[in-house]
Amino acid sequence: MYTLDETFIKNNQIGLDITYIVNPVKGEPFISHDELNQMALIVVEKHRQLQRGEGDCRDGDIPMLGWQSLPDEITKAHLDEIVAVTNELAGKIDVFVSLGIGGSYLGIEATVKALTHTYFNELSRNQRGDRPQVYFLGQNTDPDFFHGTLDLFAGKRIGLNVISKSGTTTETAIAFRILRRLLEEKEGDRARELILATTDSKRGALRALSDQKGYKSFVIPNNIGGRFSVLTDVGLVRLAMAGIDIHEFVAGFRQMKKRADGDEFWSNPAMLHAAVRHLAYQKGKKIEVVATNSTAIYGLARWMEQLFPESEGHNGYGMWVSPSLYSEKLHANGQMVQDGERNILETFLCLGESTRNVEIPTDPDNLDGLNYLSDAGRKMNFINRLVIDGPAYAHFQGGVPNMTINIPRRNAFNIGQFYYLMERSVALSGYLAGHNPFVQPGVEAYKKAMFALAGKSGCEADSQAISTAINNLKQTVI
Ligand code: PA5
Repeated sequence: MYTLDETFIKNNQIGLDITYIVNPVKGEPFISHDELNQMALIVVEKHRQLQRGEGDCRDGDIPMLGWQSLPDEITKAHLDEIVAVTNELAGKIDVFVSLGIGGSYLGIEATVKALTHTYFNELSRNQRGDRPQVYFLGQNTDPDFFHGTLDLFAGKRIGLNVISKSGTTTETAIAFRILRRLLEEKEGDRARELILATTDSKRGALRALSDQKGYKSFVIPNNIGGRFSVLTDVGLVRLAMAGIDIHEFVAGFRQMKKRADGDEFWSNPAMLHAAVRHLAYQKGKKIEVVATNSTAIYGLARWMEQLFPESEGHNGYGMWVSPSLYSEKLHANGQMVQDGERNILETFLCLGESTRNVEIPTDPDNLDGLNYLSDAGRKMNFINRLVIDGPAYAHFQGGVPNMTINIPRRNAFNIGQFYYLMERSVALSGYLAGHNPFVQPGVEAYKKAMFALAGKSGCEADSQAISTAINNLKQTVI
């Protein structure tokens, strides 16, 4: 069992600050303690339902709750195996390309960015801790992006991790077909040693292909949906390849699980977070701006942009999640947040301590008037903290209630805690809204139209109907 020092644990607790939700502005709090206490009765009931595996949680006949207990079920032996496999492959390659989309992509990229150097790929191999470069493909079908990325691989030894639970996702499958061909042409039979496949244990095209070709394969449990899968082999393999401490990552999930398992509303951050968001939605907040002061953890906001809308956006319900990087966005749609329609809830992902600090030099001429900072010994991270504290207060005063998730520093323990907190919160959110948060029937609609337009066999009838409908509608184009 992986153990962490008590002091480390104490100094690395994710915190939830709802000051600007429950305090009055113009005489009234946005949400009162009484309202939260009322809400707590319902939230605790939903929480217990989830823990008992009850409620609307099935995809087909499978209850999609495997992610809830996963942190306590992952074994050290399994993590060690992943580390061994990735270490061995790392020695044979210069670039490692992940192919996947949605839940088979976002959490992985977010974690790699959160926990590695800003310009990881531009560093020397030595500076990267003897790790290959990290690339992602299959997350879109933009040929220029695809080609631009392939151009970077010229002359390099490539390793692949193709990730798809269903094994039939078009974007991932197209990318894999191209890269597999490239690798096979270059390496012949050896190509299969350079490919890791992460997919369902039994079903799907990728499972069949992987078994046929003899790829080393990893499993996405069938009771865990894509957007809840960052702690499965989906994330773990890729993170280990980037040199991230996956034991510590799992420890972060376990730590938050302990807190989120608790029955007491006010000490359970997942219940409190879910209650605040639910009440905010009921009070007309339809957009959640998720803003951070760290480029490294901006990916976490992008991950939330999938986790919440894909789980909550059902039957005309759900908040739109808008990831924002501050200060940049304060000089753009920050105007809208402060003064536009009052339909916004804001959530800050506040990185407490940067890994490095930057001095602000004293200038004898002081023409820019900044010596007040340097004279007081203020460094850049002081200002970077204020790009949360300043807007949080100003937006609150302007009628945008906001809460802050405090992430003490960039380490695998904190990122693990954060993911688990959000997973528990969104599951509660779906239950509170009265729908199943573990399915995404809406995503199927675009696939159906796209397959029909592409002429996929079996879709002929739809193809004719959709093409005709589009042609008629397009007559309104001028
Ligand atoms: O959360 C989800 O289930 C989705 O976002 C999937 O992760 C995404 O559609 C990719 O699916 P797959 O892993 O089957 O290729």
